[in-house]
Amino acid sequence: MRFPPGFRFGMATSAYQIEGAWDADGKGPSIWDTFAARPGTIRHGEDAKVAIDHYHRYAEDVTHIAEAGVHDYRFSISWPRALASLDFYDRLVDELLAAGVRPVPTLYHWDLPQDLEDKGGWLNRDTAHRLADYTSAVVLRLGDRVRDWITMNEMNVQTLYGYALTDHAPARGLGLEALPVAHHQLLAHGLAVQVLRTHDAGAIGIANQHFPVHPASEDPADAYAAEMFRELTNWTFSDPILLGDYPGEMIRAGVGTSGAQLDRDLELIGARLDFYGVNFYEPTAIEAPREGKDYAGVLEVDIPEGMPFSPVPVKSDERTDFGWAIVPSALTEILVTLHERYPALPPVIVTENGASFHDAAPGDDGRVHDPRRIAFLDSHLRAVQEAITSGVRVDGFYVWSAFDNFEWAAGYDERFGLVHVDFETLARTRKDSWFWYRDLIASQR
Ligand code: FCB
Repeated sequence: MRFPPGFRFGMATSAYQIEGAWDADGKGPSIWDTFAARPGTIRHGEDAKVAIDHYHRYAEDVTHIAEAGVHDYRFSISWPRALASLDFYDRLVDELLAAGVRPVPTLYHWDLPQDLEDKGGWLNRDTAHRLADYTSAVVLRLGDRVRDWITMNEMNVQTLYGYALTDHAPARGLGLEALPVAHHQLLAHGLAVQVLRTHDAGAIGIANQHFPVHPASEDPADAYAAEMFRELTNWTFSDPILLGDYPGEMIRAGVGTSGAQLDRDLELIGARLDFYGVNFYEPTAIEAPREGKDYAGVLEVDIPEGMPFSPVPVKSDERTDFGWAIVPSALTEILVTLHERYPALPPVIVTENGASFHDAAPGDDGRVHDPRRIAFLDSHLRAVQEAITSGVRVDGFYVWSAFDNFEWAAGYDERFGLVHVDFETLARTRKDSWFWYRDLIASQR
């Protein structure tokens, strides 16, 4: 498998999922600390107070990243930790650079400071300005060494799971009333880009989750429901960035900002990017709700009754242990769709792709055999190659994730790592997929 010269292989993580040390440095709680502490939120009632203790073990962790030969490491900065101290990220960046790995921090990967949530969180426009202030502090401290930045992670998931539904922090359950959350996160992105440009900070992108949305049948009602879902979960978060406007009047009217202020916001949000990050996991199938049909428990998240669309299982022979459909062609499809939809699409980096399998602990041979993860990554990298052949410029691919970690509401069951973590002893073991990835990267030279 050969990729174009300069193609960047990487690994990705996020702060809350790996760091632990939840109150070190005088760090205050994030919405995820609060959410996980509430009974019934996380599959087995776990939390990420320790997670994989990356905060204390980052030096070892950097060896697992660097020795695989990856070019880039995507991690996130915990906003509440940064408000108290940036020392940890200063050390991490130095460690990465010394090991020859390019640091690619994400400014916001869902761990909003709880005191900002108490003031309305992403429903409050001021939160976007607070993100810009925090971005200034980060770039002043790290900008001499960090030259690649990702502003926000998966604004759609935070909006949908966190504010429209109750599956993620802050579990507001607002339904369509959550749309202003989309706008304020987009504004935060635009303001962060402005701050980073002012500081001449280097290459700037975002990590948006995208997936093909297919109607469950030929029925026009399903096609309509799918189109609405596609707009709400995909284009609402990318059109403003890449086309300068929301997809359609319904959403424009729902975001809670209008007139000249909306125009000014959209101009900021539409500022040129150096790369566009795409997180991809699986496609979605949608139908118009059938009367009397019970959708509860059909998927990981339940869309409340009364919504004009219902996700149904994607037809696929193969699933990850998380139950997600394995459809590599959907990655080619979404990359080609983005390329066709957005004439000004910057070079794409697949900023997340990977799979959860419930890998067994290291055996007597000390190895973790994960052939299904290797097959998953192999097929998805081939899907990226197909997109490149079809004319999409893709400059890199980051595996989610470097390490097994705290998978949000699913807790510690779902293992996405190239490196196995024993959650009791916190011992790290490189899986077979880690060696496979190392060899693939080495073979590109
Ligand atoms: C994405 C998140 C990431 C991780 C993967 C499995 O939605 O960005 O933090 O949980 O899913």
